[in-house]
Amino acid sequence: MQLEGNVAVITGAGSGIGKEIALAFAREGARVAACDIDVDGAQAVVDDMTALGAEAMAVTMDVTDESAVNAGVDAVADHFGRIDTMVSNAGIQIVHPIEDFPYADFRKLVAIHLDGSFLLTKACVKHMYPQKSGALIYMGSVHSHEASALKSAYVAAKHGILGLSRVMAKEGARHGVRANTICPGFVRTPLVEKQIPEQARDLGICEQEVVDRVMLGETVDQEFTTMADVAAVAVFLAGFPSNALTGQSIVPSHGWHMA
Ligand SMILES: NC(=O)c1ccc[n+]([C@@H]2O[C@H](COP(=O)([O-])OP(=O)(O)OC[C@H]3O[C@@H](n4cnc5c(N)ncnc54)[C@H](O)[C@@H]3O)[C@@H](O)[C@H]2O)c1
Repeated sequence: MQLEGNVAVITGAGSGIGKEIALAFAREGARVAACDIDVDGAQAVVDDMTALGAEAMAVTMDVTDESAVNAGVDAVADHFGRIDTMVSNAGIQIVHPIEDFPYADFRKLVAIHLDGSFLLTKACVKHMYPQKSGALIYMGSVHSHEASALKSAYVAAKHGILGLSRVMAKEGARHGVRANTICPGFVRTPLVEKQIPEQARDLGICEQEVVDRVMLGETVDQEFTTMADVAAVAVFLAGFPSNALTGQSIVPSHGWHMA
């Protein structure tokens, strides 16, 4: 067990990558707070973790709501006594060429990814700094390093998350807190399934071409990254035994981006 006793706060844990990370942490002995705006999704993953014999709690949280984030994180610290790992993972995707991109949608996407990461970090370090330890893990993307058409909001937000993580590596260091970003390539989750027809429409190509060319065209082997791949990197970062590894981005993407 690599995470015995580790207390982890994971946002967007009700689906996709966040859910897989929650289950992987539970299998490694962590105590997990599954946070999501989707109450039923969060409770379902808590039920799965409990079935594995892990201690887990569901937290209803909109990551753009400062008071909900603060109250949720404080409730986790009250319940488990500490917070060791933050996984800021909640996210959405909206794709449009910029001339058709509603400003409200740009702001919504950036608020969930970037404001949400800021608020969660601020709430978690309040508990990590006094204990002089903690691991901040951010869910970036290959789009923290590369750009794609139609993704002005997402690419801007994911680049911003990488910047936030690097600042936290510097600010957290004297408090024993490290910060790193996971930057996956395409993973077949609900967030990606939804994009395939949308990108086909906006780019005027067929859905198979979106998969083969847009999503996997730059990989070395035309393969999707899996949720298990990303969860394994998260376990590694949470369990790393020192703060040597901080301010980094790790890119599980089948070679799409070579860092
Ligand atoms: N799937 C991919 O290919 C891929 C690649 C790189 C990075 N990512 C990132 O991984 C993260 C998870 O994505 P996923 O593919 O698992 O998507 P998903 O849609 O399966 O899961 C996202 C979760 O975030 C939750 N969420 C959305 N808005 C929220 C809010 N305001 N407050 C709290 N929770 C909220 C949703 O309810 C959902 O449970 C995102 O940050 C995404 O950008 C995904």
